Amino acid sequence: MDKKTAGLSDTFKKSTTPKSFVKNPIKGTKFTIAISSAKGGVGKSTFAMNFALALKSIGLKVGILDADIYGPSLPKMMSINEKPKSEDGKSMVPINQYGIQCMSIGFLVDKDTPMIWRGPMVTSAIKTFTQKVLWENLDFIIVDMPPGTGDTQLTFAQEIKVDGAIIVSTPQEIALLDVRRGINMFDKLKIPILGLVDNMSFFETDEGKKYNIFGEDGVEKVAKDYKKEFLGKIPINIDLRIAADSGKPLVEENPEHKISKIFKEIAIRVKESFL
Ligand SMILES: Nc1ncnc2c1ncn2[C@@H]1O[C@H](COP(=O)(O)OP(=O)(O)OP(=O)(O)O)[C@@H](O)[C@H]1O
Ligand SMILES: [Mg+2]
Repeated sequence: MDKKTAGLSDTFKKSTTPKSFVKNPIKGTKFTIAISSAKGGVGKSTFAMNFALALKSIGLKVGILDADIYGPSLPKMMSINEKPKSEDGKSMVPINQYGIQCMSIGFLVDKDTPMIWRGPMVTSAIKTFTQKVLWENLDFIIVDMPPGTGDTQLTFAQEIKVDGAIIVSTPQEIALLDVRRGINMFDKLKIPILGLVDNMSFFETDEGKKYNIFGEDGVEKVAKDYKKEFLGKIPINIDLRIAADSGKPLVEENPEHKISKIFKEIAIRVKESFL
């Protein structure tokens, strides 16, 4: 007999046994990829939008799910100001922008409204977005995750089938601490890490001089230490930031830009690991 539970009632024993979760795939897509970082403000959303558009540019059907309930970026970065339609009052049709199917909590609330929600409400919003949105015939859904290792990450890990994660970071030591935490989280949750991306990697002047503002090769070194793929370096670039703020991501706005080409290379690599 298990000593620890000896003498306990069946109901109590049941309530102390760890719950097992069923992971549901998101309907309407072949694969789901999470864009993540344990730290905030390192460029996850910028990466997610441009990466999604780069996948589209190589002929794939793509959706973006903005899983950042407290700080949605998708409506601004993709210039979406409309509300999703619902024919039956239960499911929602994603909004099509630049050929990408999009969903965000930001479509449903006023942009200046703070989401002062407890964890279970966040979990329920995430479940709605993954189960009640009529995603249609997609190859990939790109999930723009909020920073950290909290409720949203846990919901995805326990209840939704995620086929891979890309970890985005800037290369300074303080950010790398969080990258290690992020890698350990996905390893623990048994979600495959497709690779690491070094964002705001360096600044290059018009004359071609490079400044490693946040240090050199930090993310690549962590990737090596943990035996993960390194997907590439994205420099700090004013065009990328302006495009994000203007609501038309650089890959869509200027596909021939050298930064757009980096996104395309990453998209090709990721595609090849799935299709
Ligand atoms: N490589 C880059 N070059 C220039 N600006 C960048 C780059 N990457 C991101 N930015 C800018 O940095 C800011 C933060 O980026 P973003 O919102 O994508 O980060 P995030 O990791 O999603 O943040 P959060 O953790 O709040 O979700 C944005 O203004 C974005 O335009
Ligand atoms: Mg973001």
